[in-house]
Amino acid sequence: MVIGVRWLATIRELPTAPVSKFERIGAHTHIKGLGLDDNLKAVKIKDGMVGQEKAREAAGLVVRMIKEGKLSGKCIILAGPPGTGKTAIAVAISKELGENVPFIQMSGSEIYSTERKKTEILIEAIRKCIGVEIHEMRKVYEGEVTSIDIRTAPHPYNPYQKIPESVRLTLKTKDDERTIEAGASIAQQIIAEGISEGYVIQIDAETGRVVNLGLCLESHKGKSYEVDTRRKVPRPDGKVLKEKEFVYTLTLADLDELNAKQRSGSIFSFLFGGPELREIDAEIRMEVDQQVKEWVDGGRAFIHPGVLFIDDAHLLDLEAFSFLSRAMESELVPIIILATNRGIARIRGTDIKSPLGFPVDLLDRAVIIPTYPYDIDSIREILKIRASEEKIKIEEAALERLAEIGSKSSMRYAVQLLSLAAQNAKAKSKERVTLEDVERVDELFMDVSEAAEYLRKHEEKLLIH
Ligand SMILES: Nc1ncnc2c1ncn2[C@@H]1O[C@H](COP(=O)(O)OP(=O)(O)OP(=O)(O)O)[C@@H](O)[C@H]1O
Ligand SMILES: [Mg+2]
Repeated sequence: MVIGVRWLATIRELPTAPVSKFERIGAHTHIKGLGLDDNLKAVKIKDGMVGQEKAREAAGLVVRMIKEGKLSGKCIILAGPPGTGKTAIAVAISKELGENVPFIQMSGSEIYSTERKKTEILIEAIRKCIGVEIHEMRKVYEGEVTSIDIRTAPHPYNPYQKIPESVRLTLKTKDDERTIEAGASIAQQIIAEGISEGYVIQIDAETGRVVNLGLCLESHKGKSYEVDTRRKVPRPDGKVLKEKEFVYTLTLADLDELNAKQRSGSIFSFLFGGPELREIDAEIRMEVDQQVKEWVDGGRAFIHPGVLFIDDAHLLDLEAFSFLSRAMESELVPIIILATNRGIARIRGTDIKSPLGFPVDLLDRAVIIPTYPYDIDSIREILKIRASEEKIKIEEAALERLAEIGSKSSMRYAVQLLSLAAQNAKAKSKERVTLEDVERVDELFMDVSEAAEYLRKHEEKLLIH
């Protein structure tokens, strides 16, 4: 058919062009850790960190205590002028803690939502930071499938269609072999999982859930396929029917959600996740807490308090602060780290002035880690690290000028100029950033004090109605 040919002719193969990787460089991508030695002493330049030794050492102690589980319900404040590395230190703390400790980062401004209550947002954030490691002993049938016989029966409404009715399986381990017979639900799962002879499977003795662990290494199929993308596992040892320990790591927020979904009860919420739950009520959380406490008392669960880091915490208001103070006294709380660059400031939502813009009762419960402005040497080193992070080649004289600018205005401004100068050099097809590029961009852009000075001078001319 002509149409068919024309249709075919429109198909063409696309050249397999290599996908170029798009790399994003964020403000803190160069931070890999706190840069401490084994005795928790700060090494001047390590892990992308430069200077600010005392704060890094303090943070190191905090990390050690968090890892040992000794610090739950404590509050740590990072306080210092803008651009002195508070956020950088928090990022380093999260890197040091590793993946198994929950670390949630938010900004003080995130509590202001038109849809949700402030306290609701905070409770959820807190619960996301508490890991619960649950150990469960379950009876399972486990082994390599050596024979499989699925029996079918006519569909009750459509006799021409066959549906699986039952299954007879032989499972083999290194030391045991057993033949079991199971009903329709297990037979369906076996078909759905694509399980046949040679696979190692696990069937929960109580719930009948089937898990396909992969192709058995010792099986005929496992040996014969040379290039095979399927996962391969050794034949299990021990008995076919055994008690096995399963370990799950969830957070309290995960458990709340599971509990809420179970409650909402509809089959669709089980299958498809259901509608997004906007708020989880207090009752559900209480139930979860109760359950978790029972598990912990029974030795079946372990709590891993993580870290809730609230950046720009002076944006929180009195209500949020009082909520946090109260939360710190309850049993299941993470470590709370707050960062602020305010000196004496008004506590949001009140007319009261207070150090750091935090209420005194919160300050009283906290330990404060100060960060100090950088000297020119540290600024130069940080600029060097940023240059290598952004793959910028820069001449000595240009770097020196940027460091000077950084010490006079701010480090952030110097870091920004570095990227701009690199762009300027690129526009001129130069490989290296020179003094000329730095001077050019310094002339084109203003730092804050220049901007303030300029605006003050020209105030009258600007639009004032
Ligand atoms: N000691 C350091 N070593 C390496 N890089 C640093 C260090 N301190 C800060 N930086 C980098 O300098 C920039 C500014 O620091 P950061 O954002 O942490 O400041 P901050 O104290 O959080 O400021 P703000 O109060 O404005 O939030 C970031 O890119 C950060 O990664
Ligand atoms: Mg910050």
